[in-house]
Amino acid sequence: MGRKFFVGGNWKCNGTTEEVKKIVTTLNEAQVPGDDVVEVVVSPPFVFLPVVKSLLRPDFHVAAQNCWVRKGGAFTGEVSAEMLVNLGIPWVILGHSERRQLLNESDEFVGDKVAYALSKGLKVIACIGETLEQRESNSTMTVVAEQTKAIAAKISNWDNVVLAYEPVWAIGTGKVATPAQAQEVHADLRKWIHNNVSAEVAASVRIIYGGSVNGANCKELAGQPDVDGFLVGGASLKPEFIDIIKSAT
Ligand code: G3H
Repeated sequence: MGRKFFVGGNWKCNGTTEEVKKIVTTLNEAQVPGDDVVEVVVSPPFVFLPVVKSLLRPDFHVAAQNCWVRKGGAFTGEVSAEMLVNLGIPWVILGHSERRQLLNESDEFVGDKVAYALSKGLKVIACIGETLEQRESNSTMTVVAEQTKAIAAKISNWDNVVLAYEPVWAIGTGKVATPAQAQEVHADLRKWIHNNVSAEVAASVRIIYGGSVNGANCKELAGQPDVDGFLVGGASLKPEFIDIIKSAT
């Protein structure tokens, strides 16, 4: 079976209750390909998860933007995987570059988080990607392989993992990777997974692209053979997110 196109909307630390409800209304009214063609997952801040989940159309799903690395307890300010499961939240984004960079989340810590979240039954959008400096020193694949290796070391089942390749230099900058640049990394990453995990996982795992994706550039990116969808930041707060979902066909 082919890899189903996946479009994630990461709302990051944005929105008020009113704004969030407005985005949900836009999504609910949109005519998009069915969920047999494209899997759509939106990720509001923690505080809006219940309201978004309750109002969102049933063929779209929700993701949290993070969760704690182990069972909950005395970890002020954290939200556990168990809590997300308790709320019926199916997905979580882990290892986003903003958390890796601003909160010093290491490759190993992200690997532990992915493993724990999966063990509790969550599905994971695991983010990886190089900085501009790393790209310019030709170490893109080394960095991306190291980040993936730290995850691979902790998990044995990839069925519930989507890998999001998000070059840091493309995030929120308006400087999108060219379709050729995205395809090159996705293909190399798939090859790495083939050689280091298994041929089956390499063939089935979805590798999505994130970094300044918008309504205008999504179609060409979506046409690349190893680009299985997108993780969208800024444009996921706008009506053009619908056009991005439609790029699945
Ligand atoms: O998680 C999403 C990425 O950080 C991309 O954000 O579309 O605003 O560049 P962006």
